[in-house]
Amino acid sequence: MDKEEIFKNYNEYVIPSYKRQDVIFVKGKGSYLWDIDGKKYIDFFPGWAVSGLGHCNNYVVEKIKQQVDILIHLSNNYYHPWQAILAKKLIEISFDGKVFFCNSGAESNEAAIKLSRLYGRDKGRYKIISMENSFHGRTLATVTMTGQRKYNEIFEPLPVGFLYAKFNDFSDLVKKIDDEVCAIILELIQGEGGINVIDKEYLRKVKDLCKERDILLIFDEVQTGFGRTGEFFAYQVFGIEPDIMTLAKTIGGGFPVGAMIAKREIADLMRPGTHASTFGGSPLACMACLGVIEAIERENLLENVKIMGKYLRKNLEELKNEFKWIKKVKGVGLMLAIELDRDGDQLVKICLENGLLINCTQNNVIRIMPAINVKKEEIEEGIEILKMSLKKAGFK
Ligand SMILES: Cc1ncc(COP(=O)(O)O)c(C=O)c1O
Repeated sequence: MDKEEIFKNYNEYVIPSYKRQDVIFVKGKGSYLWDIDGKKYIDFFPGWAVSGLGHCNNYVVEKIKQQVDILIHLSNNYYHPWQAILAKKLIEISFDGKVFFCNSGAESNEAAIKLSRLYGRDKGRYKIISMENSFHGRTLATVTMTGQRKYNEIFEPLPVGFLYAKFNDFSDLVKKIDDEVCAIILELIQGEGGINVIDKEYLRKVKDLCKERDILLIFDEVQTGFGRTGEFFAYQVFGIEPDIMTLAKTIGGGFPVGAMIAKREIADLMRPGTHASTFGGSPLACMACLGVIEAIERENLLENVKIMGKYLRKNLEELKNEFKWIKKVKGVGLMLAIELDRDGDQLVKICLENGLLINCTQNNVIRIMPAINVKKEEIEEGIEILKMSLKKAGFK
């Protein structure tokens, strides 16, 4: 198929719900992608953090290959070995609880909403407080929980029971709480919202408040989870455990996987019939996740994130000194961003032309989140292109 035909088919047959860059990719390995003309790109935002171990990671590929001829899918009214192994492993690397498997971040947050409402049901509690600027998904409930009007106002009337508080503002949160609140959901680093890091003291106060008022604390670790911050989960950086944690993106190494982990005391509220996912926790999906965990553990990737995160940050700080329109470098581990004093779309475009993939969110925040196994030379290569593109953008 030639390029024109591919673009034409997209235009004619694919619902236009995405803004796409004019490039057709056909192959990926590690930190690199190749387009249809054979041009090589370095990917510093692999699959919106889905391909967190780079493209076609060997551990993941191996596990999928091992499994694909044996059993791809099994419905959840039967048992299979791989879901049991994976659930146990996820608990070993997080906190004591149980896991519900699904296929995406939105679904894992839907599960968290439903479990919270089950928890609050007998006490007449059903409201969930999320943060302004948060992002929790695109299903009707999760887009309502997303604290950005631009994403949900066009779908009104929205589901009831969602309230919003200012991020990192404890007194605002306290004002929003009433006897009908069953849960508070937080991203410890707001991703789509612009790489905004939670304040540790604020987080501690929220934790204490939840305990005092019998409110569940949910951490959405869809983007921050699985090594991105230098720990398996961002909450381990801050030393505060949630009651519920939601996961997706890197957990499947490119394979669609979502998971909700809930503390043991509340997990069993999800009795048969309360929730389900036809594809969730399939043998193939579980094997992909086991490949991701094996890669992180065997290749010492959490350590790599700490070292490479520092190195990348240092390089970004240097760019900030050189280019005055970079206002700020922010983030944790390999979840980093540069905040510009202007719109970043043009820079993303120039970087793409020069062979570097990055992302712009909130108009002026350039997200830089390379694979967690990124190498020093790859960081240098990406930074070189970024620097060249900054110069070309002419914003010195
Ligand atoms: C923090 C967070 N939660 C939830 C989601 C939704 O995940 P998905 O697109 O897999 O439904 C995202 C996606 O970007 C996210 O960043």
